[in-house]
Amino acid sequence: MTMGNDAPFRTVIEPFRIHSVEPLRMTTAAHRAQKIEEAGYNLFQLHADDVLIDLLTDSGTGAMSRDQWAAIQHGDESYAGSPSFFIFRDAVQELFPFEHVIPTHQGRAAERILFQALCRPGMVVPSNTHFDTTRANIEYAGAEAVDLVIAEGHDPSVQHPFKGNMDTGRLEQLLTERGDAVPCVMMTVTNNSGGGQPVSMANLREVSQIAHRHGKPLFLDFCRFAENAWFIRQREEGYAEASVPDIVREMSALADGMTMSAKKDPMGNIGGWLALRDDALAAECSNLLILTEGFPTYGGLAGRDLEALAQGLREVVSHDYLRYRIRSTAYVVDALTELGIPCLQPAGGHAVYIDARAMLPHIPPLQFPGQSLAVALYEVGGIRSCEIGTVMFGRHPDGSEEPAAMDLVRLAIPRRTYTQSHMDYVIEVCERVLAAKDDLAGYRIVAEPPVLRHFTARFAPLT
Ligand code: F0G
Repeated sequence: MTMGNDAPFRTVIEPFRIHSVEPLRMTTAAHRAQKIEEAGYNLFQLHADDVLIDLLTDSGTGAMSRDQWAAIQHGDESYAGSPSFFIFRDAVQELFPFEHVIPTHQGRAAERILFQALCRPGMVVPSNTHFDTTRANIEYAGAEAVDLVIAEGHDPSVQHPFKGNMDTGRLEQLLTERGDAVPCVMMTVTNNSGGGQPVSMANLREVSQIAHRHGKPLFLDFCRFAENAWFIRQREEGYAEASVPDIVREMSALADGMTMSAKKDPMGNIGGWLALRDDALAAECSNLLILTEGFPTYGGLAGRDLEALAQGLREVVSHDYLRYRIRSTAYVVDALTELGIPCLQPAGGHAVYIDARAMLPHIPPLQFPGQSLAVALYEVGGIRSCEIGTVMFGRHPDGSEEPAAMDLVRLAIPRRTYTQSHMDYVIEVCERVLAAKDDLAGYRIVAEPPVLRHFTARFAPLT
C-alpha cells in the first residue's frame, strides 16, 4: 500500500525551478515620482531599471528554459537554407499545419506583410477585436478595421466562458452588406484587447463556415494559442480529454493562415511568422518579406532565434505548464476581486485586467482613468502596467476622440518569470492604491504622434 494518491493539491506550483537569476532594483517613492514626471507620465517612456515588477507586457519578456538556451547553441547562421530554419518550420507545422511558413522578426511584421498584400483603400477587415498593431497596419493600408466581439465581451463584469467569441450574426451581416470590400476575416486568439479572453472551438468553426461561404479566407492572430487551447480543454464540452496539441491543430484546420508573435506563447524573446495555405499569396508575401525583413529562411531573425522558438513550441503545450500558467493569473484576479477591485471576469490567460472606469468613476473616460491608475501603481509600488482604453483606442484616424469601449489597466504576466511572492506584493500594492483611489485625478495629453499614440504621448495630471 502507498501513502500518496493523485488528488490535486490546493497549491499549484511552478513546474520548474530557477536556474539563473536577474536582480531587481529597489526604488523609493520619491525616486519614482521624479522618474514618472520626467517620462511625461507615460510608462513606456520609463527606464526599465526604474521599474520593480514589470507587467507592461508578456511579450518577449518570459524566461527561456535550459533547453531553449541549449538550442541557441545549435543555431546555424547560414544566410540561405539554414538547418535551423527547417527545425523551426517543422516545429511550427507540427502544431499549425499550413503549407507555407514565413519567419518574421515579430508579429507586426507578419501583419504588415499580410495586409499590404490583401488590403486596399476602402476595404474592411472584421475581427473579434483587432490588437492595436493589427488595427494600425490595416488602417495604414487604407482599410477599415472592425471589431465584432460578442456583447458579453464589452462588459468587464459579466461571466462567460468564451468572451473572445465573435458575434457571428454581425459577421454574416457585414459580409452580406459589404462583402465585396472584405479581403479576409481575422480572429484574435486569445482576444488580447478584450481581456485575454478565449475563443471557443464552436465559435471558430462557425466563423470559418461563414467566411468560407462568402469566399473569404480566415486568418488567426494566434499569439496565445496554447492558453486558448487550455481554456477550450477546461471549458468546452467534448474537449476535456483532448490534448492541447490536438486542439491547436483542430483550430488551425479551420483557418487559411495565421500571423504569430513568437514573443508570446512560443516562449521567444523575439520572433514571429506568417503561415499560409495559398501558394500565390505566400509567394507575394515572401517577396514583400525579402524587401524589408530578409531572406525567407530567416526573415529578420538569427538562426539561433529560430531554434529557441522550435523548442519553446514544444514546451508551451505542456499541460503542467498551462495548468500553472492559467491558475497563476486567476490567483491574482481572485485576490483583487476579494479586495473589492473590479477586475475583468473571468480571469483571462496572460494578464489581469483591472476595470479602471469602474474603480475610478469620478474620472471621466476622456480624462483617462486607466492612465491614472497605471501611474498610481507605479508611484505606489514600482509596478509597470499598461493602459488599454481611451489612450490606446480613443483617437480615430480622422482625429476625432471618443471613449474606448472599456478603460482597462492590464497587468500582463511574463511567462515563467515572477514567483508567487512577487504576485502577493502586486496584490498588496493594488490594495494600497485602492485605499487612496478617491485622491487620484485624471490626465490630459500634451503631445501625441499621429498613430499608436500610447507609446510616446506625453501627459499632464489634471489637479
Ligand atoms: N497580435 C496580438 C494579439 C498581440 O498581443 C500582439 C502584441 C501582436 C499581435 C503584435 O506582435 O509585438 O510581436 O509585433 N502584443 C504585445 C502586448 C505587444 O503587449 O500585448 P509583436
